[in-house]
Amino acid sequence: MQQITITTPDDWHLHFRDGEMLGETVPATARCFSRAIVMPNLVPPIVNAKLAMEYKNRILNARNEGSRFEPLMTLYLTNQTSQQDIIDAKQASVVAAKLYPAGATTNSAEAVSGIEALYPVFEEMQKQGMLLLVHGEVTENHVDIFDREKVFIDQYMAKIVKDFPALKVVFEHITTRDAAEFVLSSSHKVAATITPQHLLLNRNDLLVGGIRPHNYCLPVLKRSTHQNALRKAVASGSKQFFLGTDSAPHAKMAKENACGCAGCYSAWSALELYTQVFDELDALDKLEGFASFHGADFYGLPRNTSKLTLVKQQWTVPETVTLPNGEAIVPFFAGQAVNWKLA
Ligand code: DOR
Ligand code: ZN
Repeated sequence: MQQITITTPDDWHLHFRDGEMLGETVPATARCFSRAIVMPNLVPPIVNAKLAMEYKNRILNARNEGSRFEPLMTLYLTNQTSQQDIIDAKQASVVAAKLYPAGATTNSAEAVSGIEALYPVFEEMQKQGMLLLVHGEVTENHVDIFDREKVFIDQYMAKIVKDFPALKVVFEHITTRDAAEFVLSSSHKVAATITPQHLLLNRNDLLVGGIRPHNYCLPVLKRSTHQNALRKAVASGSKQFFLGTDSAPHAKMAKENACGCAGCYSAWSALELYTQVFDELDALDKLEGFASFHGADFYGLPRNTSKLTLVKQQWTVPETVTLPNGEAIVPFFAGQAVNWKLA
């Protein structure tokens, strides 16, 4: 197949950041995505409806003239989150709340320790029909970083899903066969997002021949058996898997550092790279479901009605992207060839 036309997709997990950065990140995503679930891990985090609405307005103001891109806002759960916070957020059209175990990733120091303490909040979310988005990794020092997702499933995820059978739960950016199997063995109230990097790469791409800081993200890339399980999951066409880029910009200096930040800024290439993966899997007929239908259906939102076309044409991702403040970011797949291009 040399070209494919699909319903305009949505990105069900990304990081726009704030301030001047929005002038870069919002148009980059809006070039091909109609809506996006915006992660709340700012400093300070988005912990209530008021902060979410103010942030939403800053995002709307960063759109290019005429753009109808729609940000979908989320709340950052902390040990201080109350049931009233959930009620207020729901009323303000916040669609989901994000659970970061404390210390799991970028700006998660204020997140949750002791997940059971949040049960009254989960109860309210279940009642209000607000989705729970989970960064599924334990953070205990003694647990090997490559095992943290699996241990989280065994210690927490299985229990949350069992204790709140009516709560819609998105297992975000899954990276293991264990997570894919867990989702498939759960009810249709449980789904997962999958990033382009976890479909395209494995831990060799992080560590062989030198450390590749631009492939470093959390959860960290796993071995190829897990990568292949994720590829199989998306090629299956299961409605429980959908597109979430986890596009997460960090300045070049912060990535190429003795203690480099986690995150791949993929907004400029993600849709094209997903298309490449589905093409490699001989599953282009499953791309539209993954990119444009499953997420909207799971969130209970209308599917988009517009269309976009991708053509099989090689192009090279730029080496750097320059921010409005002059700072450089190295985008995901920088300098590498991509086989599909937005028409
Ligand atoms: O690699 C990541 N970067 N994973 C996350 O969970 C957070 C993100 C970020 O905010 O930079
Ligand atoms: Zn993320």
